[in-house]
Amino acid sequence: MTMELPGQGRRWEELREEMEAMRSRDLDWRHGRHGAYVWYADDGLEHVLREAFGMFMVENGLGLWAFPSIGRMEREVLAMVQGLLSGDDQTASVFTSGGTESIFVAMYAAREWARAARPGVTAPEIVAAQSAHPALSKAAHLLGMRVKRVPVGPDYRADAVAMESAVGPDTVALYASAPSYSLGLIDPVEAVGAVAARHGLWLHVDACVGGILAPFVRGLGRPVPAFDFAVPGVTSISADLHKSGYAAKPASTINFRTREHREFARYSMDDWPSGTYSSLTFTGTRPGGAIAAAWAAMQYLGRDGYERIAAASMRARDAIARGVAAIPGVRVFGEPELWAFAFGAEGVDMHQVAGLMGKRGWMCGPTTDPRGIHVMCTPVHEGIADEYLAAIAECMAEARTAGAGDASAPRYN
Ligand SMILES: Cc1ncc(COP(=O)(O)O)c(C=O)c1O
Repeated sequence: MTMELPGQGRRWEELREEMEAMRSRDLDWRHGRHGAYVWYADDGLEHVLREAFGMFMVENGLGLWAFPSIGRMEREVLAMVQGLLSGDDQTASVFTSGGTESIFVAMYAAREWARAARPGVTAPEIVAAQSAHPALSKAAHLLGMRVKRVPVGPDYRADAVAMESAVGPDTVALYASAPSYSLGLIDPVEAVGAVAARHGLWLHVDACVGGILAPFVRGLGRPVPAFDFAVPGVTSISADLHKSGYAAKPASTINFRTREHREFARYSMDDWPSGTYSSLTFTGTRPGGAIAAAWAAMQYLGRDGYERIAAASMRARDAIARGVAAIPGVRVFGEPELWAFAFGAEGVDMHQVAGLMGKRGWMCGPTTDPRGIHVMCTPVHEGIADEYLAAIAECMAEARTAGAGDASAPRYN
């Protein structure tokens, strides 16, 4: 289907009105109706992000020599992230467009590293828990690598012993999550790190969700196990700024233990008519606005801002998790450390409940194994916890009386 451009350009006021009308059926994230996709703290931060993004929207992070401003902000953002991840002078990072790109860049680097160190490996393989995010499988598919997914343990976390048993002659990397998307559980990174060290493997930690804010949850005195460069076997860590860093999209970081590790992510060529092209990202052009907004978010929030976000997110998590667990037959899966978790129930199909919640304007992401509903708390969820719980109880009662109904297929697209 094609569409004609308007014959004559239209006025911004008219376009703005039309665009506002278009969004009237969108998910109401400002009032916490979302279970994923959006990380919104408050209007003050939103204003800062819009201003900062707008100021540098035209600049291109591909040409840092031309925009030293972007270069400085990028360096400072990466250095602050390195500090949060127990990095040191050796740590070397890259600003990317999101978790998927960060994971792709990490797996590309791992593949090139293995090519150099173990040229005999022709079908490189990554061992991961079943709970690893699809971004890993996507990266492996694009890179001609294979992912061996291993069942999680009884606590729903990666099972380091099972992962070690799955290591074979073609294994080049291990993968752990901090936390996993579906159930919000942090894998035993220390145990997986020990496996990596024993077998000389690259270990990537997918801290896309937790990387930036988890240190502040630990700072609240809550138990958060070591998952970053403090763990000796960890080679690379992805940590998304546009998730728990509360920056604007698209923004993530991929962090390497050393500069040498990061060099394996470099792609360079000069066999074209414009000289050497060299880059550490998958994308070429990079939005200056996203780098500027990430810098502004980190400076505007500071440690105390992130502490406030962590505290509010955890209060929301506690209220919702305790509330659902009080509903007869409901249980939270595992013992989540952070602001994300999932729950299921006996005798009622939670996907049907998610569908009924959807009809009431609540987005509830599904989990399939075990079958349940996913919850991702942000500060705005603190104020709606009671409403959410009432809606869940209502939808569960409705599903029980209606019997088997339309259990909409889970999807993320
Ligand atoms: C654990 C985890 N890893 C990776 C990703 C991919 O991140 P993105 O959607 O920013 O590419 C996600 C997205 O939710 C995630 O939860």
